[in-house]
Amino acid sequence: MEKIGLYVHIPFCHSKCAYCDFSSYAIGNTQNENAIIRYIQALLNEMDLYEETLRDVEVETLFIGGGTPTCIDGKYIHEIIAHLKKSTHFSKTAEVTIESNPGTITNEKLDHYLSAGINRFSVGLQTTDNNLLSSIGRIHDFNTFVTSYRAIRDAGIKNINVDIMFGLPGQTLENLHHTLNTLIDLSPEHISAYALKLEEGTPMYEAEKKGLIHMPDEDLERTMYHTIIEVLKKSGYHQYEISNFSKKGFESRHNLVYWKNKPYLGLGLAAHSKMKQVRFSNETIMSKYLEKIENGDQPTIDQVDISESEDLFETIILGLRLNEGLDVHLINERYGIDFYSENEAVIMKLKDQGLVQMTDDNLKLTLKGIDLSNQVFLAFMND
Ligand SMILES: C[S@@+](CC[C@H](N)C(=O)[O-])C[C@H]1O[C@@H](n2cnc3c(N)ncnc32)[C@H](O)[C@@H]1O
Ligand code: SF4
Repeated sequence: MEKIGLYVHIPFCHSKCAYCDFSSYAIGNTQNENAIIRYIQALLNEMDLYEETLRDVEVETLFIGGGTPTCIDGKYIHEIIAHLKKSTHFSKTAEVTIESNPGTITNEKLDHYLSAGINRFSVGLQTTDNNLLSSIGRIHDFNTFVTSYRAIRDAGIKNINVDIMFGLPGQTLENLHHTLNTLIDLSPEHISAYALKLEEGTPMYEAEKKGLIHMPDEDLERTMYHTIIEVLKKSGYHQYEISNFSKKGFESRHNLVYWKNKPYLGLGLAAHSKMKQVRFSNETIMSKYLEKIENGDQPTIDQVDISESEDLFETIILGLRLNEGLDVHLINERYGIDFYSENEAVIMKLKDQGLVQMTDDNLKLTLKGIDLSNQVFLAFMND
């Protein structure tokens, strides 16, 4: 039976962070319960629409992301997972992750999560500096993060990821060192480190355009990235993807589904899927998503057949994000090609530029190649 990763999107947050353009609506403290109930019902209905597809596959990983899935009542998350377990072949050893925001986790919610089978938490810290946290619109301070983190640990969760960000306006190397060292003391199994991307339409994008905030220059941003790699490596975290670090054996199985270009189904607002060489994604506007589901229709807005050459290109650029690089034998087998000889010119050029390194078995990005990864991906695209 084919194995897939399942993604479920919860598009609600307490409030919107100043940099974020993920699909989510601010619901504040006075939660609009009716809107949440309507959305959860739509999600359950959407699962039923995939009854036939789900009959033939085994769910190896489930990622409940957002938004902030932990900002709604835990009973809804429980209901979603219970429904999935009833309607799919849900692997007994599945990795089941929930994304969370510090300050939104209670013991009652934890009870729901654990009894539903959640075994991995992802918590957004971003930085330990309270001034920076407030300047980017986070709802929590560092102490609130520690309280939430400890509550998750005390509940018995043995696999925690913490998200941090670098390249924030006003962030210093000293601040980054403090964030890393504090985090290492807490010893999460996994750390994701993202360079701040200014997304058009967000308050931070507008503030930067008006000259109210200043992004760090590229050199400082790259120094921060190299610092993260070095500091985490010394503390037992191996980098296995451009933005991801873990203790051995705690790599995110769900994200590996994406990076290895394997099949996944996304449910919920704006969710993306790739199943049986077809890529499709859902409505990004809540009213349209709900309307389609409530009429018994698929909430998809586009559907593209992926040709073999497109699939190969995606496998290359996704696989190069991984530190283990591309498994050349696997690619040769999967696509019936001789990868090295078919791409000799582009690979030699990238090698001469110091952007990739190759062995008989693997093709990998060098550190310079990671810094200039877009250039490498473009080279394969134009090949
Ligand atoms: C979509 S959020 C979901 C988790 C949770 N809502 C939270 O913020 O803690 C996942 C992570 O994406 C990262 N992120 C969101 N927007 C970003 C941006 N514009 N640039 C870089 N990282 C970003 C943050 O590190 C965040 O923790
Ligand atoms: S970063 Fe997380 S909490 Fe902030 S708006 Fe985005 S999804 Fe919501």
